[in-house]
This record gives sequence, structure tokens and C-alpha cells, in this order.
Amino acid sequence: MAVGIFDSGLGGLTVLDAVSKRLPDVPFVYYGDNAHAPYGVRDADDVYELTTAGVQRLFDAGCDLVILACNTASAAALRRMQEAWVPADKRVLGVFVPLIEALTERQWGDNSPPREVAVKHVALFATPATVSSRAFQRELAFRAIGVDVEAQPCGGVVDAIEDGDMILAEALVRSHVEALQRRMPKPEAAILGCTHYPLMEDVFQDALGEGVAVYSQANLVAESLADYLTRHPDKLGEGTESAFLTTGDPARVSNKATQFLRRKIAFVKA
Ligand code: DGL
Repeated sequence: MAVGIFDSGLGGLTVLDAVSKRLPDVPFVYYGDNAHAPYGVRDADDVYELTTAGVQRLFDAGCDLVILACNTASAAALRRMQEAWVPADKRVLGVFVPLIEALTERQWGDNSPPREVAVKHVALFATPATVSSRAFQRELAFRAIGVDVEAQPCGGVVDAIEDGDMILAEALVRSHVEALQRRMPKPEAAILGCTHYPLMEDVFQDALGEGVAVYSQANLVAESLADYLTRHPDKLGEGTESAFLTTGDPARVSNKATQFLRRKIAFVKA
């Protein structure tokens, strides 16, 4: 009854941590494509090829449901995968929708027409590929009207986190927040639209100031997954073991993951 969690690298661990706390009896198989991270500077075809290869590996590990815990893959590849690639007995879900539902005060599956919502000025921090896809703005427009979104492509942050250089990651986050504030001085809410960024959430909050509500995906995705599995218990696949798979160097990736999650994590070669 395993569920797959996919990311380009270490960022999806923020989602894995939340879903495994929320659903302690469900085995999760994590796949980090660390050998090919970051995805945020790749083109859509490249992201599609890498994402389908990783998701296939998770299907092969006994997962019938895979969460793309990667906004870049969700933005650049998910729709194409759902339209033409995912087999009828499997499901692949992205991480955008739970976040946008929270921002627009909607319940799961509320498909009523777009309406006015409380927040009017939203800052979006994401990878260059996610920002240029405009997927976030598209999903938001289905649900809300009158929301002004200013997006900041945060080049370099994923690379720094993957390299374990948190000093560089912090400096980059602060400079990206400043760049955003030059265009939108007073956002009411900020979206961390990359699953690596919750690892820097304190820095984002500090740079943005206390008055800004910071939305990050991990807990929102965990709630949505719990709800989804209650309604679709058949989507718990055949796998029974939790596992951590990486295309990178397992020893190096295990070290970083252990440091980020503050518990022992042992990756094996995917
Ligand atoms: N965690 C991925 C995301 O949510 C990072 C993408 C990348 O590898 O650049 O977008």
C-alpha cells in the first residue's frame, strides 16, 4: 500500500516529512532525481522525460499513486503526463492545487466560478521554469478574481540547497525577496512555490517581515492526500516497504537528507 513521492532532489523531503507524520501507517517510496537537479533551468521536454522516468520507477516499486512533490515538474510536465502517459489504473497528482485552494479559501473539489478573495497582492517565489510556465497564475485564475500576482524566479536557490551551501542559499533568498519588493512593496501573502524553499522558510519570513503570510506546501499537501486516500483507498498500491531512491550518490544524498529532516535517512540507488 505504498504511495510514491517524486522530486528533482531534496526538496520533496519537506512534503515527505509532512505526509508521513499525517499518515504514519502508509509506506512512502521517495524518488529524488538528484543526478539531474535542478529542473528549474531545464526546458519542458527535458523535465517531461526525467519526470516520466522517475514516476515509472515508482510505479515499478508498487505505487499506484504518485505525488509530484516538485512544482517545476507539476508545472512543466503533469498535464501532458495525465493526458497521454499515465496508465488508467494509476494516478499522478501535483502540488499546486492544495496551495491555491488554501489561498483562495476553497474546499477540495469546489469547482464553482472564480470569485473575489481576501488577499489581493500575492508574491510568488519559484524556480525560473515554474515562473515562466505561468501555471500558478492559470490555476489561480480558475478560482479567484482580482488577485495581483508578482512572480520572482529564484535562480540559484535550489542549486545551493542541493550543494548544502546554506549560507549562499540564504543570501540568494534575501536578494530575491528584495528584488520582488522593488516591484511589489507590500504583498499580503507569499507563496513558496518550490518544495525546496520550506527548508529556507525562516529566511523568507524574516526578509518579508512578520505581516506577510507565508504559504508553503508540505502540510497543505498532507491534508489533501489524507482526504484523497479516504475517498480512494484503492489507490494505495501493492508496495509495503518505505524506501528512499536517488539517481545521485546515495551516501552524499543520505547525509544531506539526514541533516534536513534531523532523523536518519538512508537512500539507495534508484
Ligand atoms: N523542488 C522543485 C520544485 O518544487 C525544485 C525544482 C528544481 O529542481 O529546480 O520546483
